[in-house]
Amino acid sequence: MEPDSAVPFIHRLALCETDKVGAGTRVWAFAHIMAGAVVGRDCNICGHAFIESGALIGDRVTVKNGVLIWDRVFVEDDVFLGPGVIFTNDLNPRAQIKKSSDDFVPTHIRKGASLGAGAVVVCGVEVGENAFVGAGSVVTRDVPSHRLVVGNPARPIGWVCDCGRTLDSNLECSCGRAFEEVRDSDGTSRLLPRQHPGRMTPEQQ
Ligand SMILES: CC(C)(COP(=O)(O)OP(=O)(O)OC[C@H]1O[C@@H](n2cnc3c(N)ncnc32)[C@H](O)[C@@H]1OP(=O)(O)O)[C@@H](O)C(=O)NCCC(=O)NCCS
Ligand SMILES: [Zn+2]
Repeated sequence: MEPDSAVPFIHRLALCETDKVGAGTRVWAFAHIMAGAVVGRDCNICGHAFIESGALIGDRVTVKNGVLIWDRVFVEDDVFLGPGVIFTNDLNPRAQIKKSSDDFVPTHIRKGASLGAGAVVVCGVEVGENAFVGAGSVVTRDVPSHRLVVGNPARPIGWVCDCGRTLDSNLECSCGRAFEEVRDSDGTSRLLPRQHPGRMTPEQQ
């Protein structure tokens, strides 16, 4: 039987305590979503993922197995969270000191970003649009849009395309997209799309 894309599919062995799960989203066995969490449309929430009250997940987000998402973690549309990604929301936790939601430090994962398996995100950072965090990295600083970071602490080693592939030294991708690096007045650099010499982008094909 085809799944009904007008409603979410919640596996009978999932623990889904929120009613704010969008149409077309699938929540698989042993995933746990707390009351007060919000999950958008057409997401895939895999087994043993945990989504706490106060977390916000956009549309078409993939949350692979064992991802831990806490209060004040904000995940935008089209984000990929690899298996075992761990977020945090308290920079200096103490078991004896109880904190409320307002005390937690927000983290923002912008549209289209991907976080590889086992990445740890220290709270308070922003991972930019279409950025890519390599497997096992520990993110301690903001990651600009399209930046590829790896390691502990995560450091930039390149740039990634919208399609997820690493860009070559000319900031061109085998998919046909190309970019140029522009430097802002504060010294940070970001990518802007440009015409790939001699190739059509997937959108033009
Ligand atoms: C980060 C990533 C995209 C890089 O891929 P790539 O562009 O093909 O890069 P390369 O494999 O050529 O590696 C480039 C360099 O970065 C290093 N590197 C690659 N991935 C790394 C990682 N996750 N952590 C630390 N270093 C890494 C390589 O060792 C290499 O270093 P060297 O030049 O000193 O040998 C890829 O390694 C990765 O981590 N992908 C995520 C996989 C994943 O978690 N998927 C989840 C779904 S199953
Ligand atoms: Zn590409």
